[in-house]
Amino acid sequence: VSEHAILASASSPSWVAAALGDLPTLLVDHAHCEKRAASTAVRFLFKYPEWPALLQPVSRLAREELVHFEQVLRELKARGLAYGTLSSANYAAELMKRVRGPSTGARRAAGRPDPVATVDEMLVCALIEARSHERFVRLIADCPDRALADFYASLADAEERHGSLYVELAVDAAGGDEAAVRARLAELAAWEAQVIARPHQPLRMHSGG
Ligand SMILES: [Fe+2]
Ligand SMILES: [Fe+2]
Repeated sequence: VSEHAILASASSPSWVAAALGDLPTLLVDHAHCEKRAASTAVRFLFKYPEWPALLQPVSRLAREELVHFEQVLRELKARGLAYGTLSSANYAAELMKRVRGPSTGARRAAGRPDPVATVDEMLVCALIEARSHERFVRLIADCPDRALADFYASLADAEERHGSLYVELAVDAAGGDEAAVRARLAELAAWEAQVIARPHQPLRMHSGG
């Protein structure tokens, strides 16, 4: 599954220009993104202890994201840049608002995750991974810092693989109904295309503009 099969839009030239114009901010936010991706994956290991198809690959994904986090920290250090807090673009939170199913409270009362919500959750993660991949590929061509471009190239394959994994998990959660998952993915991808195009945001890995 390539990001072209997942995303409904390409990043705007204005985002690419803003990113290339402020690589230090992009790099700090990138570190936060890798850390959050690892955290989300570990959260799934706790949330879905009885889903064997998820455990092994998502544990591996979590480890990969932490390696990426450490690599970004090294890239920051090599450039004399400090890692620190940075407000989030609320991209993932906006996407998660479209997750269907019962409220968290009702889900907790039911004692197990709701399959419809699980499909959406996996698809939102697939979209985030696919957008990261798409943005790395866009940056590689024009990044004036060639060492950084090489680093993005080394990450792009992994993020593409992560996007595919989350789509596969969505299909598994849907009992193998690939057509239903594709249809739902198209709806969520249309929403993601709106969120990623939000104007007037400070530069972030997943900011709009
Ligand atoms: Fe990553
Ligand atoms: Fe990833």
